[in-house]
Amino acid sequence: MAKAEASIRIGTKLLRNRITFAPTVKFDFTDDSGKANERLVSHYVERARGGCGLICVEATAVTPGGRFCKTHMGLWNDEQMEGHKELTAGCHEHGAVVIIQLNHTGYTANPECGPAIGPSAMKRQGFRGEYTTIAMSISEIHEMQQAFVDAAVRAKKAGYDGVQLHGCHGYLMNQFMAPSANLREDEYGGSVENRARFCCEIIRRVRELCGNDFLISVRTSGYDNDLADAVAVAEEYVKAGCDYLQVSSGISSLESLPAFHDPRVSDIQSLGAYFHEHFAGRVPVSCVGGLTEPGQIRYLLENDYVDTVDVARAILADPDFANAVITGGEYVKCYGCKACQYGPFMPHTCPAERKRKK
Ligand SMILES: Cc1cc2nc3c(=O)[nH]c(=O)nc-3n(C[C@H](O)[C@H](O)[C@H](O)COP(=O)(O)O)c2cc1C
Ligand code: SF4
Repeated sequence: MAKAEASIRIGTKLLRNRITFAPTVKFDFTDDSGKANERLVSHYVERARGGCGLICVEATAVTPGGRFCKTHMGLWNDEQMEGHKELTAGCHEHGAVVIIQLNHTGYTANPECGPAIGPSAMKRQGFRGEYTTIAMSISEIHEMQQAFVDAAVRAKKAGYDGVQLHGCHGYLMNQFMAPSANLREDEYGGSVENRARFCCEIIRRVRELCGNDFLISVRTSGYDNDLADAVAVAEEYVKAGCDYLQVSSGISSLESLPAFHDPRVSDIQSLGAYFHEHFAGRVPVSCVGGLTEPGQIRYLLENDYVDTVDVARAILADPDFANAVITGGEYVKCYGCKACQYGPFMPHTCPAERKRKK
């Protein structure tokens, strides 16, 4: 049993508590330069001041073609490191461990940014209508892996404690591990080991270049095509050197996920709990989804369902949410808007933020 306020060691890093700020992309805080500007820096530093044990900075593109839109943050060149140095220094000053999520959108790339590349060619339906994805060649796979590694090295130079590889929510790394998106018959497709290879080779190279003191996390898919397969893929990630698993949804729907024995734990949260049970302390595991009240967070941690909890909207709504959970203090609750106003192409009119600033 762990209390929310109990510290935890992840890799070589000590988190002051078990509440982590989940990655939340902003879409329009920056511009076509992809740089972390003053607005982004203060957004994260405010949340470090608010008590999170760990902050995971939003999905950051490793190549211009892998962006969600033209105003998406990137780490594909050295000039983009600058704002991050202030961001990491500010978060450290307020006691948070800070990592950054690295991503390529794969075949869900915004057509204004890049082609719909992925492990295999297949017809898909997306916001661009019906389209055919483009299978990556082996040399394109290696170039893409290098782009992830280069971005991780830049993250380290910019002061990050580690990186999170975005391996869920249907983006490129998830596409490689998911049998529904990866039909390859070479060494990057087929068996669990082959489908995990794209990510594992990145983990090993980042470890080699960034050292043991650099935290490598994967936000992994908890369900593709089923639980057992997703767990087996994550085993490969851990064998390759991943220090920390944050478990979220993948490409497959959760409809046939087995019901968790405790009805107070939602389907999405139960993915983390299943993984936690499987890994049994070998690496810390977190869950995410709908954690907007201190009681829910305490319940998951105190029943030993997970090691840490990943919280997105409640911390967007109130940067001091983590401190409120720990001290029992007041906070402004997330309204759970139908579409979060921090989300894609939304005007930033978060009602919780308006209430706080009144
Ligand atoms: C505005 C917004 C942006 C998000 N951006 C990301 C992202 O960059 N990377 C990611 O893995 N998940 C992203 N997510 C998903 C969240 O990290 C989280 O998994 C989801 O919101 C559920 O957690 P919550 O109920 O605490 O909000 C985003 C969610 C929101 C609302
Ligand atoms: S916009 Fe709505 S859903 Fe998003 S953080 Fe604010 S209150 Fe929560």
